[in-house]
Amino acid sequence: MLTRTLNGGGNSLRLEDIKGVGEATAKKLRKAGYTSVEALAVTPIKELQNKTSLEYKTAKKIVDGARELVGIRFVTAKELWEMHKGRHRITTGSKALDKLIGGGIETQAITELSGQYGTGKTQICHTLCVTVQMPKEMGGLEGAALYFDTEGTFSPNRIYQIAQNRGLDPEEALKNVIVSRVYTSDHQMFLLENAFDKCAENNVRLVI
Ligand SMILES: Nc1ncnc2c1ncn2[C@@H]1O[C@H](COP(=O)(O)OP(=O)(O)O)[C@@H](O)[C@H]1O
Ligand SMILES: [Mg+2]
Repeated sequence: MLTRTLNGGGNSLRLEDIKGVGEATAKKLRKAGYTSVEALAVTPIKELQNKTSLEYKTAKKIVDGARELVGIRFVTAKELWEMHKGRHRITTGSKALDKLIGGGIETQAITELSGQYGTGKTQICHTLCVTVQMPKEMGGLEGAALYFDTEGTFSPNRIYQIAQNRGLDPEEALKNVIVSRVYTSDHQMFLLENAFDKCAENNVRLVI
């Protein structure tokens, strides 16, 4: 699970701000999944070439330009501390589990659930799809969830039950969970690269 930090939303730099990138190139880059200057700045040139079929020289110029714009950014621990104050927690729906992990699933971070078959990983993911929609004072973020279903176990029926149980309108809750079945790791990468626009459009606050 991750909450959105890199790419898309919240920053003021546009692809067109990169030296040598005009409207047409920007469009091409966005189509290939590069929607922010920051993303380009951390992309290997070879990868950019593969995804856009740009010449090496052009791809290098774009990446260099993006890096120049973003700049080397060292921060003090104090600045980092201030930034971390903006992090929230989404309740897992279990007070005991929340307590164990410091108050719930942290935003701007990746949380990995591991455990044997049948220990409740999928159930927690379903619950989080609902709790993320709840008001902040109830441990939610009033946002939607994006769910990549790698094993074909996503159950709208379960979302309905959990929402009903937690006092949310079940049908509204279902509308705020966007699901895609994932078949291979390549397919997952493709979906992820195209997910950022979806996140912004739908106020997605949690990706599973
Ligand atoms: N609708 C449900 N209501 C209550 N318990 C359920 C429901 N669906 C599954 N479970 C139970 O929850 C447990 C955890 O299952 P699951 O989350 O699928 O495990 P995991 O993803 O870790 O393999 C299982 O014992 C399963 O039988
Ligand atoms: Mg599972």
